[in-house]
Amino acid sequence: MYVCICRSITDRQIRRAVDQGARTLQEVQQRLPLADCCGRCGPTARKLIRDCAAGTDSVPEPAFCPGAAFAG
Ligand code: FES
Repeated sequence: MYVCICRSITDRQIRRAVDQGARTLQEVQQRLPLADCCGRCGPTARKLIRDCAAGTDSVPEPAFCPGAAFAG
């Protein structure tokens, strides 16, 4: 599922970054452009990173981004 709507970054991409050693949002941002637009995904991303690193992984709620356009 998408965690960062602005940058189309999924929970799988974040989990992969954690598997590769990232432990903070800043470390994930060295690999992915996560939370660098509206920033609304930041809290969800931090929780996912923390839970993945601790082995208590859970599926995050999607971030709402008012700047994202949805085609219908
Ligand atoms: S920067 Fe991630 S949802 Fe906007």
